[in-house]
Amino acid sequence: MTNTLFQQATDIIRQNDRGHYTVPTHGLYPFQWNWDSCLAAMGIAYIDEVRAWQEIETLFAHQWQDGMVPHIIFHEQDDGYFPGPEIWNTGRETPTTGITQPAVAGFAIRRLFERAVNQDLAQQKATELITKVAHWHEWFYQYRDPEDTGLVAILHPWESGRDNSVDWDEAFANVPTQGVKPYTRRDTKHADPAHRPTQAQYDRYIWLVQHFLSLQWDNEKLHDESPFQMVDPGFNAILIRSCSDLAALAEKLGMEQLAKRQRELAKQGLQAMNNLWSDKHQQYLCLDRHTNQLVDSASSGGLLPIFADINPQHAAIIADRIQTLSQQCRYLLPSHDPADSRFDSKRYWRGPSWLIINYMVADGLEQHGFDEMAKQIKQQSLELIKTHGFAEYYDPLSGESCGGDSFTWTAAMVLEFL
Ligand code: GLC
Repeated sequence: MTNTLFQQATDIIRQNDRGHYTVPTHGLYPFQWNWDSCLAAMGIAYIDEVRAWQEIETLFAHQWQDGMVPHIIFHEQDDGYFPGPEIWNTGRETPTTGITQPAVAGFAIRRLFERAVNQDLAQQKATELITKVAHWHEWFYQYRDPEDTGLVAILHPWESGRDNSVDWDEAFANVPTQGVKPYTRRDTKHADPAHRPTQAQYDRYIWLVQHFLSLQWDNEKLHDESPFQMVDPGFNAILIRSCSDLAALAEKLGMEQLAKRQRELAKQGLQAMNNLWSDKHQQYLCLDRHTNQLVDSASSGGLLPIFADINPQHAAIIADRIQTLSQQCRYLLPSHDPADSRFDSKRYWRGPSWLIINYMVADGLEQHGFDEMAKQIKQQSLELIKTHGFAEYYDPLSGESCGGDSFTWTAAMVLEFL
């Protein structure tokens, strides 16, 4: 069985390979996505290490001058996706979007480096990539934390990677919809509309894109002029973990200065993370930078900080909380608290379980010494795949597969779990 799963996962990765980058899935997502590629690279490495490094190299070949790494690279023309390059209109030679995604690259390249069979190649590729990743991290703290709080804000829900989470509902009420030009969604042609974001949410996603375009995608302006500024604990945790991992990698490569700076950034972030803790919810919460209030919404974004080196008391409480969640649903880890009336077991990031979150949370649990809990998450993830296939996400109550199928990062995570 294990071999079959391994074979199925590698077949999916091969099917979605476009030569120098991988698409998340055929049809629904026909381009290169930022964090998908970085997580996919770890799976690709089991098939071909050269190709795994290339996946991340391709992504960073499209890094902006200021350091930003875009959330989508539109390598080819494809009408199956909306909003396409003409809507973003960022003026890049190879079109890209103008927003970013969770900074998992630092984590991924350290892992690729440490597991590499071809050490010479790893040494060369890591040396080339490390300064680019460090530049991206600097971009975050410069442009998304202008007041030096230690934590960065996202300006569009798509940046979080958890597109339609309940976390954004309240703040999203302040995003207007007037002036949104008529458009046709494409996502609902590929996947069940009941599993996707609502129309009202989509209008606001598009309003933000038009607004940022009207500011010429100038990162000096975007943060202050965005009606949506959210400090997401999960997003920050991934960035902090990547800073620490980049520091560790830099030490191995003899880059002391870079290591020191990345360690500093991680330290500041970890300290500031304590301000996002909620005793009521026994986990971290988002902070709305406009109201300076924590958002009353317990999502998987608030559990993800265990992926970083958070304080041991909080880590232990999160491990307990996951234990409780495992009694409320059959398949960990629900993207939203099942006890909350806003939980929706099939709608994208408002309830369903995602294997990439499972992977990062399980890794964090192990780092903090909660091996049993980590093992349970991995076992349930593999059980999902065996019975319901390599889907984009899963109903945590029934296991039903949702969204797109033959999904690259799901396959990559299976290879990791195996
Ligand atoms: C969806 C997900 C996002 C992912 C993308 C491609 O937009 O919410 O996290 O990167 O699909 O898989």
